[in-house]
Amino acid sequence: MADILILVGSESGNAQMVADLLAEELGKEGHRIAVEARGAEAMGRLLDCGTALVCCSTHGEGELPENIRPLREALLAARPDLSQLRYGVIALGDQTYRDTFCRGGKTMDALLASLGAARIGERLEIDACTQPLPDEEALEWAREWVALL
Ligand SMILES: Cc1cc2nc3c(=O)[nH]c(=O)nc-3n(C[C@H](O)[C@H](O)[C@H](O)COP(=O)(O)O)c2cc1C
Repeated sequence: MADILILVGSESGNAQMVADLLAEELGKEGHRIAVEARGAEAMGRLLDCGTALVCCSTHGEGELPENIRPLREALLAARPDLSQLRYGVIALGDQTYRDTFCRGGKTMDALLASLGAARIGERLEIDACTQPLPDEEALEWAREWVALL
């Protein structure tokens, strides 16, 4: 059974909804899941955990949602050694933003990797344009991802 911290970056609620569903469903399957949407609190929790799942949308022109920006800034300032961390990424976006599709999730992915963390599995990129049920796609992916841990 896995112990996972879900880090949420969400502006209008989709990534939060995905994170909450994953916490509920994976919790029922026996995993211990914590959800952290307060970016300012997240770095301390990240340093203490072994496995994180970033669940992050993109806003503006390829920007991170407001709530997760403090985490990025704290990580960039402190540059902690995250070599003990394994992580996965669920990126939510919209293909109509062609040049910046899912850039929020990609930004967090690149940042964690640059600090020594090891990504497990491929990043999931969910396109709001073609996927009306992001939580269902994410849950299917997350079950496979958890099996890789
Ligand atoms: C103003 C605005 C800007 C957006 N910019 C991007 C973008 O640059 N790239 C992208 O892939 N998606 C972009 N999106 C799509 C969102 O990432 C997508 O709708 C996502 O599901 C929103 O998740 P959230 O509710 O958790 O924030 C944008 C959406 C809005 C409303």
